[in-house]
Amino acid sequence: MAKFEIWGPNKLKGEITVFGAKNAAMKMIAASVLIQGEVTLENVPDILDIQKEIKILEKMGGKFQRNGHTLKIDLRKIRPGNPDPDLVRSMRASVVLLGPLLARFGKVSIPHPGGCLIGKRPIDRHLQAFKDLGIKVTESEDNYQFNFERLVKDEVKFSKITVTGTENVLLFGSFQEKQITIKNAAIEPEVIDLAEFLKKSGAQIEINDRTITIRGRRNLKPIEYRIMPDRIEAGTFGILGALSGNLKVTNLNPAHIESLLKEFKKMGIRFEKGKDWLYIEKPAKISPADIRTAEYPGFPTDLQPPMGVLLTQAEGISRITESIFENRLGYLKGLEKMGAKIKILNPHQAEITGPTTLHGAKIESLDLRAGATLLIAALISQGKTEIFNAEVIDRGYEKIEERLQKLGAKIKRV
Ligand code: EPZ
Repeated sequence: MAKFEIWGPNKLKGEITVFGAKNAAMKMIAASVLIQGEVTLENVPDILDIQKEIKILEKMGGKFQRNGHTLKIDLRKIRPGNPDPDLVRSMRASVVLLGPLLARFGKVSIPHPGGCLIGKRPIDRHLQAFKDLGIKVTESEDNYQFNFERLVKDEVKFSKITVTGTENVLLFGSFQEKQITIKNAAIEPEVIDLAEFLKKSGAQIEINDRTITIRGRRNLKPIEYRIMPDRIEAGTFGILGALSGNLKVTNLNPAHIESLLKEFKKMGIRFEKGKDWLYIEKPAKISPADIRTAEYPGFPTDLQPPMGVLLTQAEGISRITESIFENRLGYLKGLEKMGAKIKILNPHQAEITGPTTLHGAKIESLDLRAGATLLIAALISQGKTEIFNAEVIDRGYEKIEERLQKLGAKIKRV
């Protein structure tokens, strides 16, 4: 088990590059199951979750070749069968293998996909969508068996929005010759990026508001595709700039973090932006904010924890409302240990009173975003912080310590 040791406070300066989006890359690797040929993905981050997904597909006969951030994928010869249950259990995102494996082989069985500690994370919306299309789903204690013969319906309407649920149907539908419509779909940039990938491979996909229409094909073409920049990394580094220095964040799409930039403006945080960069300064004073997470284009739940650190430095009382997950305020306990003034009102809401001078502490990284959050808190804290369970951060951020060291951070992996 590794840990990070950080000595703060650090005034950071310089340029940091955003890598490719984890939550887009994982879906395109899954999409490659549908493609009879070699897929070349560019801008693929080298992170634990992706390594695990590769392992699952290698165990089924898939071939991968990585050269830096370029990944060549050949899944032509994968065998019909089930993905390794232990690996699936260890990673929630593996649920997106379901749609493509089911489409290609007609049947698949998976255990309940695991993940982090941010909530119960059921997959009932995925199950209902597949059942609606005519797929037989047999559930046993911790396992789901899917069998597909023919489509009985051409429309899925999600009762509530789900990102990977939408992606599963999008992936499944891209292999069907009959048209399928998804209503009340998620339209996160990662969903749109996946749709672009599938379109380039030959699927016909149209997106209007929250309705996605897909007419797929069995012979999707092998392609080369560059994955979008990770908007959560972009936002996290933007927040870091506002907290501790003058940072230029490059290789991002500012439109993807518009909801964050809107909050920055209200909080008096100055920034400049270009087509693919953001320059951000630490302001003399930060105004408090009222943050409510929502589906895209709302404020992303994945940026709520890093935003919590910024609010510890705002003058006055700020409020956070987490409306997507039921257990995503756990990191606030870590911030409290570092001296933040926190009032947890209920599992979804908290108040943060600032500004407070944070101090070093020994803390556990709960999930990947919470881990990255404690890390940026440590960079502005007085003294030494130890963050245990560093591997959780490696799930989603490649070589984070090396990238932060280049900005002047005193951080070490032990
Ligand atoms: C995706 O998770 C992302 N993961 C998450 O990123 C992200 O936080 C989330 O979307 C919301 O933007 C990947 O893309 C791999 P949902 P997903 O289905 O698809 C409930 C990160 O840190 N729900 O949109 O699993 C669910 O429990 C991760 O990178 C059901 O009740 O999220 C949650 O409360 C964390 N039943 C809400 O809906 C279902 O069948 C939204 O979940 C599905 C979801």
